[in-house]
Amino acid sequence: MSKFKVLDKIIIRNRSLGGQLTFITGEQGSGKTTLMLQLLSELYKHDVCVWRGLDSAQAIQLFPYQKDIVILLKKGRKHKVRIIEERKYKKTSLEELGYEIIRYSRITDIEQKLQENKLNVLYMTIEEWREWLIKLPKIRKYTFWLTIAIDEFGEIAPAYPKGELWHKLQDLANGIKEYRKRYINLLAASQQAGEVDHRVRKKFQHRILGPGSIVEKHLRVWQKAIDNLKLGEAYICSSKFEKFTFQPLKKQTKDLQIEIL
Ligand SMILES: Nc1ncnc2c1ncn2[C@@H]1O[C@H](COP(=O)(O)OP(=O)(O)O)[C@@H](O)[C@H]1O
Ligand SMILES: [Mg+2]
Repeated sequence: MSKFKVLDKIIIRNRSLGGQLTFITGEQGSGKTTLMLQLLSELYKHDVCVWRGLDSAQAIQLFPYQKDIVILLKKGRKHKVRIIEERKYKKTSLEELGYEIIRYSRITDIEQKLQENKLNVLYMTIEEWREWLIKLPKIRKYTFWLTIAIDEFGEIAPAYPKGELWHKLQDLANGIKEYRKRYINLLAASQQAGEVDHRVRKKFQHRILGPGSIVEKHLRVWQKAIDNLKLGEAYICSSKFEKFTFQPLKKQTKDLQIEIL
């Protein structure tokens, strides 16, 4: 992926440019999760990388370097893992599957528990994610490059929030604005931009549009160009735009389902 001028901006680290915020859209099945994992499988060699753990455990199943996955869970939090097949399922655990589990007690401990050269799969509730993302620029103790990848970002920052959530997402937009200075990179994905609160969305410097994305007016790329994209192709769009391709990932494990209790 390295012959691209615009895409390089989100991969190459430069202290004077600081953290890079990238928002990925595309319809279901357009390759968003695959693309994020492809990027992380490069980035985790030089950034400390965090992936938002989901029940579907997609990252765990697709990440090409299985021995480099660690799972972060809050102290005391239990989990259930099932290997699911067509007509049966088998109960197992993350330990039994060979993954290392790291426990943290408070949100303020997470940063120091994160492992270098690993994919840190962090399982938290949606409320805890908001809290961590809001506070992170203030509670960060170190300056290593931190990359956080969040699939299904609309769950964290939904459009048209009401009441308390409206204020939380304003805090989130304010927090994210500081990421650049604190060397935090954010990769977030949702099917359409309109699913994510516009105040939060506006803080992202880069946009990646995959097949099925609806192009917002302020972007430099044409809807027709997006409509012609095939699976494995996307546009990255900031002050310039550029088309690029990425490869699929092979599944590394059986079908897994992880439930955090
Ligand atoms: N570059 C690619 N080339 C071919 N198939 C791909 C590519 N990227 C993803 N796929 C396949 O497309 C399907 C959807 O990919 P996924 O990353 O889960 O999309 P999304 O997260 O947007 O729903 C998967 O079966 C995946 O293997
Ligand atoms: Mg996906």
